[in-house]
Order: sequence, then structure tokens, then C-alpha cells
Amino acid sequence: MNTKKRAVSPVLTQEDEGLDFTLRPQSFKDYIGQSNIKKNISIIIDAAKKRKEPCIEHILFYGGSGLGKTTLSFLISKEMRSSMRTVAGPSIKRSGDLAAILTNLKKGDVLFIDEIHRMNSVCEEVIYPVMEDFKLNIVIGKGPMARTMDIKIPPFTLVGATTKLALLSSPFRSRFGATFRIDNYKTEEVEQIIARSAELLNIKVEKDALKRIASCSRFNPRVANRLLKRVRDFSQSKNKEVITEKDAKQALSFLDIDEIGLDSGDKKVLEVLIKSFNGGPAGITSIAMASGEEEETIAEIHEPYLMQIGFIKRTKQGRVVTEKGRKYLGV
Ligand code: ADE
Repeated sequence: MNTKKRAVSPVLTQEDEGLDFTLRPQSFKDYIGQSNIKKNISIIIDAAKKRKEPCIEHILFYGGSGLGKTTLSFLISKEMRSSMRTVAGPSIKRSGDLAAILTNLKKGDVLFIDEIHRMNSVCEEVIYPVMEDFKLNIVIGKGPMARTMDIKIPPFTLVGATTKLALLSSPFRSRFGATFRIDNYKTEEVEQIIARSAELLNIKVEKDALKRIASCSRFNPRVANRLLKRVRDFSQSKNKEVITEKDAKQALSFLDIDEIGLDSGDKKVLEVLIKSFNGGPAGITSIAMASGEEEETIAEIHEPYLMQIGFIKRTKQGRVVTEKGRKYLGV
């Protein structure tokens, strides 16, 4: 099964795109969690407004998939009463791609570059002067006839999002005025997010059912909202008006998700580490071969969560199962 197909994967799917859009908070007031980031951004925006500046400093968000980087960027544009342009980092391959995006911006726009670490590094040189003084230096022609041209870009805010901060060069990172790490949500926050989503989707859910879905959501709002939809489908197929805890429990077990949000892939990784590698250490390639899971799926879905809940540890020699992980599996 690939990375995107698992119900507990935080990686964006086409189905999530619509859901994320429908459920997207429209103001910081509606946004649950990340209170420190919200506070800091509000101060930055407030100060810029008082100085009558059209935009704020460039902002960099880093953190796992599905934690709200796009939403926070959208809320910045809303608060600044501007528009957000979204571009995927991997689609910026040549300096010409970047020039086309930048020359189409309007004063005050928010330019959101997702997966900014995957933007071609040749474009970094082009973006530096733009970030500093909104000047685009482009070279026209080749050889002795080549000329450089300065194009003025209207003031805008670049919001970069990355899941891999270390892959961004230090000069690039230093050009952002503020960098925020988006952490996982607390279970109570996920519960509130699901309750809000249920209301927006017109789904009636008992409190204990909300709790059950939240406890399986791996502290991730995107996973939580997806599970809510799956549980709703299950309950509707049984002609139920209100989702009860029993329905939620049954639906989640049909999806092969246990009460702490582990799926069969997570358990397989743990089992392989214990049984085939005597608890580890083992490298990710060996674990992938022994478990039949793809390396990418292990690295992006299973390992981060298993580490977060303290079931495995990463050492220089490889991954190791902890006592807590062993106890949970009962081996
Ligand atoms: N939906 C997804 N993430 C959310 C959040 N942090 N607050 C409110 N609704 C959300």
C-alpha cells in the first residue's frame, strides 16, 4: 500500500484537499491549537498594520504534513486582507518559473510556497534579492551579449512551508523574518477540531465517539477529519442518526486502526524489529525488506508516530524497539 492510501497517513490526498478547504478556519479565532504561533503572528500583523505596511516579514513554517501550515498561511492573508497565491516547491524548476510567479504578484499578496525545500536550488539565488528588496535580477541572453535587468516586484509576503527544515540552506533560512515550528496537537485540541468539523459537516457525534476518533488520530487534524468522515460513512450505512462510541469503535476497527491509532503497517514494523532483528538496531532498508512495506511509507508514516509515542528509538546504529513498544505488542 502506498504512503497516501493509509487512513492514518497525514500526507495530503485528493479527497483531503476538498475536506481541508471545506473545514478550513476562516479566522485565527476559529483556529484551534498552536496558540503560541497564533499569538506571535497576530503581533507581527498588528505591528505591520500600525506601521501602515502592505505586508509582513517573510515567514517560514516547518512541521509534519497535515498540521496546518497552509491554513496558517491562508489566515495570514485573510488578516492582511490580501490574496494568497499557492505554488508547490517542486514545480519551481528554473529561474524563469519563479520570475513568472513573482511578476504576477500584486502589492500585499501572500505567496505560499509549499515544500519549499524541493524548489530547485538555482532559484535560491534569484529569490534572495527579491526577499530582501523586492528586486528581481534576471539575465537576458547568453555570452558576451548577456545583460542583467532589474525588475521591481510589488511588496509581498513569502510564506514558506517545509517538512524538512534541515534541507533548506542556511542563507535561505536566514532571509525569513520569523520561523515557526508547528507541533503535533494535544488530544483535547484534536477533539475540539473534530467537534467543530462535525458541526460544519452536519454530523451528530456523541462525546465519547469524538474522544475515540481523537485518540486514533495520531495528534494530527488531517487524519482526525479523515477518520471522522470514514466513521460517518460507516454510521450512515447503518442508518444511524447519531454516531455513538460503539459505531466509532467498530468503524475504526474495520479500518484496521486500534485504540491508540496504530494500523497493521505500524504493528508489522514493530513486529519485524522484535522478531527478525531481536529488537534492533536495524536500518530502514532492512526493516522495509523484512516487513514488505516501502521505505518511504516507513519513514513518513510509521516511524514518526512510533517514535512519538515512544515505541521505537533511533540510534546511530539504526532503529530499536523500546520496552514500551514490546509491552504494547505483548512480546
Ligand atoms: N481543521 C483542521 N485544523 C484545524 C484547526 N487547527 N482548527 C480548527 N479547525 C481545523
